[in-house]
Amino acid sequence: MISVKNLSKKYGSFTAVNDISFEVEKGEIVGFLGPNGAGKSTTMKILTGYLPPTSGSASIAGFDVFEKSIEARRRLGYLPENTPLYLDMRVNEYLRYRAHLKGVARGKVSEAVGEAIELCSLRDVEKKMIGALSKGYRQRVGLADALVHDPDLLILDEPTIGLDPNQIRSVRELIKNLAQRRTVLISTHILPEVEIMCSRVVVIHKGKIRASDTAENLLKNHRAAGQLRIEAKAGPEAREEFGRMTGVKDVQVEQDGEFTTFTLRLDANADVSEEAFRLAADRKWNVRELVRKRATLEDVFVELTHSDI
Ligand SMILES: Nc1ncnc2c1ncn2[C@@H]1O[C@H](COP(=O)(O)OP(=O)(O)OP(=O)(O)O)[C@@H](O)[C@H]1O
Ligand SMILES: [Mg+2]
Repeated sequence: MISVKNLSKKYGSFTAVNDISFEVEKGEIVGFLGPNGAGKSTTMKILTGYLPPTSGSASIAGFDVFEKSIEARRRLGYLPENTPLYLDMRVNEYLRYRAHLKGVARGKVSEAVGEAIELCSLRDVEKKMIGALSKGYRQRVGLADALVHDPDLLILDEPTIGLDPNQIRSVRELIKNLAQRRTVLISTHILPEVEIMCSRVVVIHKGKIRASDTAENLLKNHRAAGQLRIEAKAGPEAREEFGRMTGVKDVQVEQDGEFTTFTLRLDANADVSEEAFRLAADRKWNVRELVRKRATLEDVFVELTHSDI
């Protein structure tokens, strides 16, 4: 559905996107991740025809986003980073205007707007001025705008930015719902959201693609380490003994009354829980709690994007 080949974008002498290539298949929900300034919005602006690339190419459903821009745009809905809404228009007026601009046939506009309003739960506010809506509702209007011409592909640039946790949850549900019969490319900084929603993750850092895989595989294949936390009644010798187990990188110790908390940082894929439990039992260290913490997508993200490479 999206094909990006050797795409680069320079702003003056600064390279914001540096020779990136990736594909998004029909039906996928792909999370587009990267720190501030990584090149996410720039890439999305090129895909949606708002910016010309410096070199390379991109196509939507087989149509080059620049040479066949109208064909490509017809198939995609775009929620930009800063949704440019007309604050002094009513929700339904605005959506009619946008549907018209996007080439929805005159006789179909009411139906298209009605469906977008329904999908985005905007019925209660359809006659309100956009300027009078809360951020969460404005974001829904932005989404309704993105999908009013019933595109196969949605490109959403940080759709949940600035929303409160309730609104984030409801916009996330809405996107999941929209994704049932659409392809979605979504940029966000909320990583648990990505784990819940996305079938694949593309990580960009300093204009370069650093990873493209399922969240599951990223977690499996990266060095991001898991941890094991053990709270036990044990003497200072325990730190050394835990530290000797294969797969343990280091051990941090914290005293909590008569209990000591040992935090074991582990090598990727190492699981020493059983061994640690047996060791504690042998030594008669009274274990109050033993918790394994797996590496999270956030750990992987930090590992992929903290460096200056
Ligand atoms: N119009 C512009 N002129 C010059 N530089 C720009 C322009 N737009 C973006 N940049 C630079 O290009 C780089 C990539 O910006 P981009 O907006 O694509 O990042 P992003 O990944 O979307 O970041 P964020 O998470 O902050 O939204 C940044 O260093 C930014 O300062
Ligand atoms: Mg951005």
